[in-house]
Amino acid sequence: KMIKKCLFPAAGYGTRFLPATKAVPKEMLPILTKPLLQYGVEEALSAGITNMAIVTGRGKRAIEDHFDNAFELEMQLSGTSKERYLEEIKEIIRKSTFTYVRQKQMLGLGHAILTGEPLIGNEPFAVILADDLCDFDESGVISQLIKIYNQYKCSVVAIEEVPMNQTSKYGIIAGNLVDNSSNTYQVTEMIEKPDENNTPSNMAIIGRYILTPDIFTILKNIKPDKNGEIQITEALNIQANQGKVLAYKFKGKRFDCGSIEGYLDATNFLARKTGII
Ligand code: UTP
Repeated sequence: KMIKKCLFPAAGYGTRFLPATKAVPKEMLPILTKPLLQYGVEEALSAGITNMAIVTGRGKRAIEDHFDNAFELEMQLSGTSKERYLEEIKEIIRKSTFTYVRQKQMLGLGHAILTGEPLIGNEPFAVILADDLCDFDESGVISQLIKIYNQYKCSVVAIEEVPMNQTSKYGIIAGNLVDNSSNTYQVTEMIEKPDENNTPSNMAIIGRYILTPDIFTILKNIKPDKNGEIQITEALNIQANQGKVLAYKFKGKRFDCGSIEGYLDATNFLARKTGII
């Protein structure tokens, strides 16, 4: 089965960016002139995916408006030199189909993914957390994961080595290299946010996944953790125990734009790359 849909969980509160995220969704915060979510949609498009399934929540209506025509604005700019500012987003809207569902209670990433089930159905799909911004030139992280998926037909997560004192911020994997590979691991275990002394490795899961649809049944049977959240790591751990999860050390640069430092780094990096500074 081909990967045709990409799910974007975008219902989180973004508390680390308050008060900016009080009325503006975190996924709509801009890096230079584009909102974070647009970078994610561009990455999915570059991987040949045109069906964007977005999990939103209360107060996130700006997301839907961004990926729709803006008739009055377009009329106003039509025929002027400013028309070009809308060209890129109009092209994205033309190429893609957007579907939405609201997560009614923010019960964690696993719950957000489960909320997306009606938009995805019974097929493998990609997941992009837009607050992890991944810069790419030719091949985005999702394209890289799809290559692995097409070969092995199981769930694939993108991983990155992080400093040992940072493991408590991530889902961490333990695994063994797949034959003849220097970057693909068969995952044996996944642990959510282990501290430095209890972590099996420094290989952290970042916000890019390919998931097989049995993940939905697994998620339905998972109990909330001590914070009342349903964790995707726990569902993936069940798949991993069945030998059905690979982890891929992706090529490229990632910025954690859910944190202020990462957001600043991404802004500086892209400003330099595009010659603004
Ligand atoms: P985060 O862990 O970054 O949480 O979510 P957050 O609420 O967005 O931000 P902070 O920690 O309060 O600052 C990771 C991803 O999962 C989505 C978020 O939108 C983000 O893309 N998410 C998280 C949901 O869609 N629903 C949830 O209930 C939780």
